[in-house]
Amino acid sequence: MTSNLLATFTNIFNEGETKIRTFFAPGRVNLIGEHTDYNGGHVFPCALSIGTTAIVRKRTDRMIQFYSTNFTNLGVIKVSLDDLVYEQADDWANYPKGVIVTLEQHGYKLDSGFDVLYAGEIPNGAGLSSSASIEVVTAIMLNELYSLAIDRVSLVKMCQQAENEFIGVSCGIMDQFAIGMGKEKHAILLDCDTLDYTYSPLDLDEASLIIANTNKRRGLADSKYNERRGECERALKDLQEELDIRSLGELTPAEFDVNAHLIKQGVDRKRAKHAVYENARTIEAVNKLEDGDIAGFGQLMNASHISLRDDYEVTGKELDALVEAAWEQEGVIGSRMTGAGFGGCTISIVANEYIESFIEKVGAQYREQTGLQADFYVVQVGDGAKEIVEG
Ligand code: GLA
Repeated sequence: MTSNLLATFTNIFNEGETKIRTFFAPGRVNLIGEHTDYNGGHVFPCALSIGTTAIVRKRTDRMIQFYSTNFTNLGVIKVSLDDLVYEQADDWANYPKGVIVTLEQHGYKLDSGFDVLYAGEIPNGAGLSSSASIEVVTAIMLNELYSLAIDRVSLVKMCQQAENEFIGVSCGIMDQFAIGMGKEKHAILLDCDTLDYTYSPLDLDEASLIIANTNKRRGLADSKYNERRGECERALKDLQEELDIRSLGELTPAEFDVNAHLIKQGVDRKRAKHAVYENARTIEAVNKLEDGDIAGFGQLMNASHISLRDDYEVTGKELDALVEAAWEQEGVIGSRMTGAGFGGCTISIVANEYIESFIEKVGAQYREQTGLQADFYVVQVGDGAKEIVEG
């Protein structure tokens, strides 16, 4: 694929003097630990083998030219290094612009512009982090191209900052971290409070991970996401009137139950309950996986979905229909929504011999209930972002 992209690159940007380099960042899928990252809890995501490729060449002037094979209708988007502001019309190119602005805020200046072509394989708006993938591929590419010598975790944090401040979505650290730090055939247990992390081998025995895309547009996702954050922050404030805690992630379920009455509003109490219980579930699930108890891991995935449906209220009828159809099938070890919710994807663990019947039956049941066609992918767990060296 890269050789075709190289041909497209020289076609769009012409031949040039300086070296062309190729970088890649994956998408991610979260196995368990949803809406816990911004609450100081744990998450357990892994990097996908599909992602975003960026082909880049330095320029000698201060111009930057962006082109995406996914948005050919927008053509080449040209901006100056001296004029990097959010522009609605620049669409997807605001993500890399945000990364450059954030690098500059941290004192890293680019001494020239560049030409870059992006090619993404992650379905947009499916909750598999296509935008974080663009951010992280941009960050690692600039780090190498301009010899900035920034360590990987700092790059990951700057990408989150770009998304929070330049794009205006108050996401947590999970997506950028999984994409920047992923490891083939492993998931990452990340403590989002301290950023301590460990890799767990994804040894699923005779089973596979299957992503199912609801293909429901994630309409109000960003505003609902920010609303949930606000509810959790309010719950934390109420608890802090009596408890000496910095985040909901510090509480065990038992401690939460004893103190839940401190939270004034019923809705906030439900949101906080999810955050606390989901955090505990995540740690328990990883222990089960490490003990080879895949069935136990699957049951906790199911419990996670129920909590996201009933307490956090971020599933919606499409995600519920897909998950509930999955639960009914033979060979299904666990199934839940993944990512922010309000549409997007589910993740299931399915025994290998049942994969075909799973896709057929869940697809048919989902179509019948919603009128929508789901897409299914068998997950290959890949590496984090890296430079691709040809040959
Ligand atoms: C989105 C955000 C993440 C995380 C998940 C929910 O993917 O970008 O930071 O909060 O939702 O777990």
